[in-house]
Amino acid sequence: MTARVRFQPENRIVEVPSGASIADAARSGDLAMGFPCAGTGTCGRCRVILADRGSVLACQTQVEDGMSVEIPVTSRPGDLEPSVVVSSGCPETCDDARYGFALDLGTSTLAAELVDLDDGQVLVRAGCANSQVAFGSEVTRRIEHVEAHGSEDLAQAIQRDMTALARSMIDAIGASQKDLQAIAVAGNTAMEHFLYRYDPSSIRQAPHVPLVPAPPSIASSKLGLSFPADPQVYAMPCIGGWVGGDITSGILATGIHQADTLTLFVDLGTNGEIVLGNRDWMMTCAASAGPAFEGCGMVCGCGARPGAIDRTTLLANGELGWQTIRGQAPHGICGTGLISLAANLFRAGRIDRAGQLRNPENYRGEPGVVLVPAEQTADQRAIGLVQRDLDELLRAKAAVFAGIQSLLEASGVGVSDLGRLVLAGGFGNVLQPRDAIAVGLIPDLPIDRIEFAGNTSLQGARLALLDASAKEEATRIAGSALYMELIDQPNYFEAFSAAQFLPHTDLSLFPNASGSSQAERSSE
Ligand code: FES
Repeated sequence: MTARVRFQPENRIVEVPSGASIADAARSGDLAMGFPCAGTGTCGRCRVILADRGSVLACQTQVEDGMSVEIPVTSRPGDLEPSVVVSSGCPETCDDARYGFALDLGTSTLAAELVDLDDGQVLVRAGCANSQVAFGSEVTRRIEHVEAHGSEDLAQAIQRDMTALARSMIDAIGASQKDLQAIAVAGNTAMEHFLYRYDPSSIRQAPHVPLVPAPPSIASSKLGLSFPADPQVYAMPCIGGWVGGDITSGILATGIHQADTLTLFVDLGTNGEIVLGNRDWMMTCAASAGPAFEGCGMVCGCGARPGAIDRTTLLANGELGWQTIRGQAPHGICGTGLISLAANLFRAGRIDRAGQLRNPENYRGEPGVVLVPAEQTADQRAIGLVQRDLDELLRAKAAVFAGIQSLLEASGVGVSDLGRLVLAGGFGNVLQPRDAIAVGLIPDLPIDRIEFAGNTSLQGARLALLDASAKEEATRIAGSALYMELIDQPNYFEAFSAAQFLPHTDLSLFPNASGSSQAERSSE
């Protein structure tokens, strides 16, 4: 017995066996939907609308023959179609041009550049959501999928995304596909394993050692990619199971390994990867922050896409203002917006130091705060924050801060020794340093020592594409940086518990942030 399901607004009919879930039908019809918790029913992010029943979870609801399912924008995984920006057109000598494709293979999104291999110029930039989100937004969920179903689903999702990105970028400048001559990829250890179809199980299991830390350069056809010139694919070497080629790339791009200055590097993506060091030594670790920084698992959380609230302000009258990405009507709050909201609620005295909401309103049946009333949102549903969202956010920031503290402690240096703090990743780009310090996510350093480096994973991949010596340097970085497993650190859990306060139980660690509420407020 089969059931036919019509998905809207695509108006696509999908036929699946009776007993399948709506999520199964959406996957088999290649509909753009995300399943962040891989269908365990815990994240609440796969809501669809049924004409007769209203809103249900796609992963928990069985199909019925003749069913009509509407997928709202809030259940989309971001833009799966590549968004392409041309920086510079086809060079004059387009006929014999040689192009390279640099890729940041992120867990949530892919970011790429098309580069002229002869002069190093970036011709096109593009990005898209990672379609692997259909198998879970967290890396561990995807590893579990490989363990249960094999590597093909995830490898093919990457192939599709990479092929669509590269082709659309080449087409955007009217060049020929045959001129794509080289590919350089930087991703976390699991993402690189998925691309190469390596067994990722050992990353998830102690002692968290990757099967292949440095994947070999290989013809793209061997990875199932189809480009006329069959370009070689180079993948950045990984440092450890949870500190991957994207971090090697970040070190290469920011030059930490060559500098005298002691640098703390924090890449805030799906995980919090941290590097501490300089030209003489480097230590790394990865803090398992969970998906909170991606806005995942939150009542109104969403990815950083147009219409997401990415910043709030505390107004002089004590009310909260907000802004959205590209100024579109709000439909949710992304990770940066959540940190900003928590920081401003704390400054306003509406959250206590233990992270509890003071005098909460009733929001969707739970104690919470309404940020945007229903009549101002894109889908006429009020946007806000509930206590359990806040708890999740505090756990995430505590994991990262405890990771930073553990690295400092293990290497015997203090916060005052840090000459530079580099925030990297798409998340780090728009984060307000004062907000990050106010909630205790990063150390309370003078603002002029904090810098945003952007997508350093992509920057490092581009360097490797253009210069063979950069690849040798990457090999040296991955071989010399020490990987520290946080779970083995005797004080990590104590540090984690202490960091769950705002900004921290030990206020001496945050001398500027802890007394700043009124100052911040009057400066807005
Ligand atoms: S609740 Fe359905 S994917 Fe998470």
